Amino acid sequence: MRARIIGTGYSLPAFRADNDYLATLVDTSDEWISERTGIRARHLAREETTLSMSADAARMALAKADFKAEDVELLIVATITGDMDTPSTACQVQKEIGAKNALAFDINAACSGFLYALHVAEAFIESGTYRNALLIGAETLSKVVDWTDRGTCVLFGDGAGAALVTASESGGLLAQSLGSSGEKWDVLFCEGRPNENPLREKGQKCGYLKMDGQEVFKFAVRTVPQCIEEALEKAGLKPEEIDLFILHQANKRIIQAVAKRLGMAEEEFPMNMDECGNTSAASLPILLAQLDERGRLRRGDRIVLSGFGAGLTWGACVLEW
Ligand code: UT7
Repeated sequence: MRARIIGTGYSLPAFRADNDYLATLVDTSDEWISERTGIRARHLAREETTLSMSADAARMALAKADFKAEDVELLIVATITGDMDTPSTACQVQKEIGAKNALAFDINAACSGFLYALHVAEAFIESGTYRNALLIGAETLSKVVDWTDRGTCVLFGDGAGAALVTASESGGLLAQSLGSSGEKWDVLFCEGRPNENPLREKGQKCGYLKMDGQEVFKFAVRTVPQCIEEALEKAGLKPEEIDLFILHQANKRIIQAVAKRLGMAEEEFPMNMDECGNTSAASLPILLAQLDERGRLRRGDRIVLSGFGAGLTWGACVLEW
C-alpha cells in the first residue's frame, strides 16, 4: 500500500501586508524585497492563531476528500510556532475538528516539517499500522520574527496548509530522500522566550528568529537539487518525466538556481511566495492546496515536493497524483 494525497486545504490570515507596508516599519523598499526574493506581500495574523488556521485548513482538506474527522487515524502538525509549548498543536486541532480517534502529535523540522510528516505517515501507512493521516503545516512566524531586523522580517508570512493521505494501491508516494544535519544549526534558529528563572543568570535569550541568510542560501542551492536527484533516482525517473516541481517558497532566486541545476524550465516550478512570503512548514501544503484548487494537479501527474530549512533539515519526495 502506498500513501496517497486525496484532499488538500489551506488557510491564510485576512491581513495582507505588501512590501510598502513593511517599508513603514523598517528601512527597506518594495524594490529590494521583490528583486532579492520574489516576495511582494505576505499574510500576517492579527486575530488568527496557529490553531485556528490549522483547523480551517484541515476542515477544507477533509471536505474536499468527503472524509469524516472521526475517521482520521493519525494527525500530525508540522510547526515551529505552536500557540502553546504543550499540549501539541495536533492535540488542540484534534479537539477543534473532532478527530477524536486519531493519534495526534507535532513535528518540529522547520521548513522541511511537512515532508517529515509525510515521511512518518508513509511509514505508518506502508506498515499497515494506520490507513490514513491528516497532515498539517502551520505557522504564525510573525510572533517570532524580530520586527526591527530588516534582514529577516520581510521574508516571512503566516498560514496553514493540510493534506489528507490514505492507503492506496495505485499512485501516491513513489520515493523520498530526506536528511538532517545539526552541525550548522546556528545559521537559522530561534531561542526560547525569556524566563525569569531565579536559578539561572539573567539577560539570556531574546526569543527572536536569527538567520545567516547567505549561508542558508548556499545550503539550499547545493542540497535541494541533490536530494531531488536522489529521490528521482529511487523512483527510477528523470527530471524530464516530472510534471511539476513544488518547492519550499523561501526565495525565487533559490528556485531558479535549482531549476537551472536540474536543467528544467522555471515554468515547471509554480510559486506563491509573491503573495505568501516564506511560511516555513506551511509553505508546501499551502502551495499544493492552491494548485489543487486551481485544477493544476491532474490524476497521474508526477510531482516532486522539496523543502529545506532550520536544523538544518531537507527533503524531497516524488509522488503520482
Ligand atoms: O526557509 C529557509 C529560510 N531562509 C532562506 O531560505 C533565506 C535564504 N537567504 C536569502 O534568501 C537571502 O540571503 C536574503 C534574501 C535573506 C538576503 O539576500 P542577499 O542577496 O543575501 O543580501 P545580503 O544579506 O547580502 O544583504 C545585501 C545588502 C546589505 O547591505 P550592504 O551591507 O550591502 O550595505 C543588507 O544590509 O542588503 C541589505 N539588506 C536590505 N536592504 C533593504 C538586507 N535586508 C534588507 C532589506 N531591505 N529588507
